[in-house]
Amino acid sequence: MLKPKELYKDKKVIVRVDYNVPVKNGIIEDNNRIVSSLKTINYLIDSGAKIILMSHLGKIKNEEDKINNSLYIVSLELSKLLGIEVKFCKYTRGNELENVVNSLKPGEVILMENTRYEDYPKTLESSCDKELSSYWASLADEYVMDAFGSIHRNHASTYGIASILGGTTGFLVDEELDYLKEVINNKDKIIILGGAKVNDKLGVIENLVNNSKKILLGGGMCFTFLKALGKNIGDSIVDEEKINYCKELLDKYKDKIILPIDIVTENGNKNIDNINDTDIGFDIGNNTISLYKSLINKEDLVVWNGPMGKFEDERYEKGTKELLEYLSKNNIKTVICGGDTGSASKKYGLSFYYISTGGGASLEYLEGKKFETLEVLNK
Ligand code: 3PG
Repeated sequence: MLKPKELYKDKKVIVRVDYNVPVKNGIIEDNNRIVSSLKTINYLIDSGAKIILMSHLGKIKNEEDKINNSLYIVSLELSKLLGIEVKFCKYTRGNELENVVNSLKPGEVILMENTRYEDYPKTLESSCDKELSSYWASLADEYVMDAFGSIHRNHASTYGIASILGGTTGFLVDEELDYLKEVINNKDKIIILGGAKVNDKLGVIENLVNNSKKILLGGGMCFTFLKALGKNIGDSIVDEEKINYCKELLDKYKDKIILPIDIVTENGNKNIDNINDTDIGFDIGNNTISLYKSLINKEDLVVWNGPMGKFEDERYEKGTKELLEYLSKNNIKTVICGGDTGSASKKYGLSFYYISTGGGASLEYLEGKKFETLEVLNK
């Protein structure tokens, strides 16, 4: 939680935000993460703080990545949204950065270039390099962690600075954690899990299965479970190494873990017992959509991570689209865990009880993992 305003007056405050936003042909396709950061920034502006924003964008492995992942475009969007000029510093260290930071007046904001510029030629940001963490910490008096989407990363701009300067969380992180805690504490929740990789989701199933009514599976991940059940899944995606583990989960929780009864292949909707060796499943089928709807009551709390199919392709969007529409139009309390499910919600123009700004972070939180950056801030 942020400190009272008077404690930030005239102080240089680093705010770690998550401006890792989708950019195509120089246009920001979804500014939700930028909009979500405004509350904390405005609070600090009102406090008379001198605000230094830090964020990563994409991954930086060579010089070309630097050209394609500059945060300059984000500074323009942010200036528009805040209604004040946000200065942009194209350096991540050195005299120019220090000068612009030291010349900030109360209420002014600068956005530093992509923290991951410090990942090439040497991986310093992502390896939480000590020297880099200390250098960045030396630029400011206070630290605020408001990058929920990156809170699971122990990098120099997250864990590194926090462990030196201490500090607090911002409004966005507090809000995200409140919603996720509500989900975790609800014993009767319905969990919907999809997406390609089964491995990512096993921790959530294990951690929350006893505190949930049903877990409905779809996406590429469900085929490892279907194979564990002895079904022919054709050429669908499978994680061979996890089959035995999925079988154990199914044996233990067969009433709770629900699998598709039909799927959509290139050859149309097929019952799960009618799959040919060459079929590939790309979406859950019509009967599964109906089954899943019938298992969700109006008063349930639903948490959803990972699409039901390859929704980017219109032929395979129905499972994700119809279930999202069902939840939204019936006002069923639903927490969407960012990432691809968040993008799908946006694509279909649907609103929900809460849409998280962090896919990976919310998943790890639901798995019960501890975030070291939070722990060091709470000390
Ligand atoms: C995200 O988009 O999930 C966060 O910004 C984290 O990005 P990363 O996976 O590149 O660390």
